[in-house]
Amino acid sequence: MKKALGAAFFYARFALPFSRIGFRRRVGKTRLEADFSGQRWVVSGATGGIGQAIALGAAARGATVLALGRDAGKLDELAGQAAGAGRIQPLQVDLSLMQDVARVAGDIARNGRVDVVVHNVGVMCHEFRRTAEGLERGFATNLLGHWVLDQGLRRGGALHEGSAIISMSSGGMYGAALDIDALQAADAGSHDGFNAYAQHKRAQVELTRHWNSLGPAQPRAWVMHPGWVDTDGVRSALPGFRKLFRSVLRDAAEGADTALWLAATRPDTGEGIWLDRQRDDEHAFAFTRAGANADALVAALRAHG
Ligand SMILES: NC(=O)c1ccc[n+]([C@@H]2O[C@H](COP(=O)([O-])OP(=O)(O)OC[C@H]3O[C@@H](n4cnc5c(N)ncnc54)[C@H](OP(=O)(O)O)[C@@H]3O)[C@@H](O)[C@H]2O)c1
Repeated sequence: MKKALGAAFFYARFALPFSRIGFRRRVGKTRLEADFSGQRWVVSGATGGIGQAIALGAAARGATVLALGRDAGKLDELAGQAAGAGRIQPLQVDLSLMQDVARVAGDIARNGRVDVVVHNVGVMCHEFRRTAEGLERGFATNLLGHWVLDQGLRRGGALHEGSAIISMSSGGMYGAALDIDALQAADAGSHDGFNAYAQHKRAQVELTRHWNSLGPAQPRAWVMHPGWVDTDGVRSALPGFRKLFRSVLRDAAEGADTALWLAATRPDTGEGIWLDRQRDDEHAFAFTRAGANADALVAALRAHG
């Protein structure tokens, strides 16, 4: 009963701003004028949905995009869609496997500096499954992999003070107070895919705070969410939700818009989460302020490497 009431309250509060109507009200048809020529981007989870729209949007504006995905066929297809030859460079990597993520970060860093990193990959895993490295799949993909990619790029000297880091969180994080112990369930019995996803998405907010605390000579970071977007991810993880809201879901380009806008405009960093080119409060409910902080999160991530 408490859960149902919470859900009803959540949808009543957010359905309008997160829908396509919200996008049209806040952004409308304002075109993004941006020139990313000469920039080297890294976009994770680029073979579908919002990540693909970010990769194509950046490439169309002149960037060279290193597109991270695990499916060779989808990567080739993506590279073929970009207007300029070589604008999208596919890099095959399983973003749930930390050794593979560290490998690709090293390869990227060896070949030059990076101007923009978009930590876009994210999955909602209803079924409890461990990766070959023994990590819960959602935790590995949605959070630890972002940390490992960032660490690898920094250690390799690819990130610099002019680099931008953009993390794709979710409005689902509004319902979660960060609980380090809930980031990764110990077994199937204690796993709740929806709650774990909300935790990972809240953790991205704290990770962004950490990255921005590292000093002026470091890259700056922003965290955003895309609203509700009709993608394969939503189709497979939230079929009931999609059925209910299908007519007002955003398209992938609308979901990608704020990432491209942040990279182009680089607004002041600080508290908050971005949606539709505007900064919103990162807390909508008082109880989430009592969650764990960035230091506790970083200590937990460091424990994994
Ligand atoms: N859609 C929404 O309404 C919504 C709302 C809030 C937040 N978000 C966030 O936005 C981001 C993108 O969501 P989306 O809806 O566009 O997702 P999506 O449709 O599921 O696309 C995710 C992409 O990531 C790739 N991917 C997944 N696991 C991977 C792995 N282990 N290694 C390499 N690539 C992997 C997928 O490739 P495969 O085809 O190989 O699986 C796919 O190309 C996520 O962080 C999500 O949490 C989305």
